[in-house]
Amino acid sequence: MDTGTILYGGVMTTNRITPSSLRRLKKAGTPIVALTAYDYITATLLDSAGVDVILVGDSVGMVVMGLSDTVGVKMESMIYHTSLVARGVRHALVVADLPFLSYHCSTSQALENAGRLLQDGGCFAVKLEGFRPELIRTMVDAGIPVMGHIGLTPQSYRLSGTYRISGRRQHEREDIIEQAKILEEAGCFSLVLEAMTPEPAREISELLSIPTIGIGAGPGCDGQILVLHDLVGLTTGEAPKFVRRYASVAGDISRAVTAYADDVRSRRFPSTEETYSEN
Ligand code: KIV
Repeated sequence: MDTGTILYGGVMTTNRITPSSLRRLKKAGTPIVALTAYDYITATLLDSAGVDVILVGDSVGMVVMGLSDTVGVKMESMIYHTSLVARGVRHALVVADLPFLSYHCSTSQALENAGRLLQDGGCFAVKLEGFRPELIRTMVDAGIPVMGHIGLTPQSYRLSGTYRISGRRQHEREDIIEQAKILEEAGCFSLVLEAMTPEPAREISELLSIPTIGIGAGPGCDGQILVLHDLVGLTTGEAPKFVRRYASVAGDISRAVTAYADDVRSRRFPSTEETYSEN
């Protein structure tokens, strides 16, 4: 999308998706396609399929690490998974989540951790949950592109023990819309809107000039994001209401492994074709 530009040492900017490209997609009315990834091979597949934004989400805690929520995900895990994803991506905008408590203790802690995701992880932007306009302004001033995230913020799960949908009450709708406007002013290049009724999400998307990316926020957002494992059915539990399943990879893996075990136990594997010849 962006035309390449040569800079120092002959380094050329490739046709990577940037925050400005996302803004252009919004302006053109082209929906933004976003998905999560946590490893190299998945990232290459998503990138070749033309996904615009690849998020290394702290959902890695649940779908890859086997944790019950995102609270246990630490900076080291985020840097590690971000580096695997960044290695596989040529085109999409790679965004990495700042995990629980990695941006709350002080501004310098937040800047340092965001910087580590960019410098050691290799992402091009960070995402942080909640209404933190001052912090976001400081990060953007330091040259760190920030994606905001409002509505349901899973890192606060342990406060209430539930994942609550917002926007059903008038005051909630007003609060979310106000927060979205202030986060745009603070410098966010995009906003994730999670688990809310469709009306406030639509209104925010119409009011803001930065793109909104929805997850469980209805069709009025400028783009949509899902956790890849939900989309391909690589989970053991039920999918949330807002997920559309396009494959059932967990079932495919179970069937393949059962068939392999049968073949090994009955000595049907390996066959002569699968064995090296003597000469
Ligand atoms: O962690 C994550 O995967 C996310 C998305 C679901 C938006 O924050």
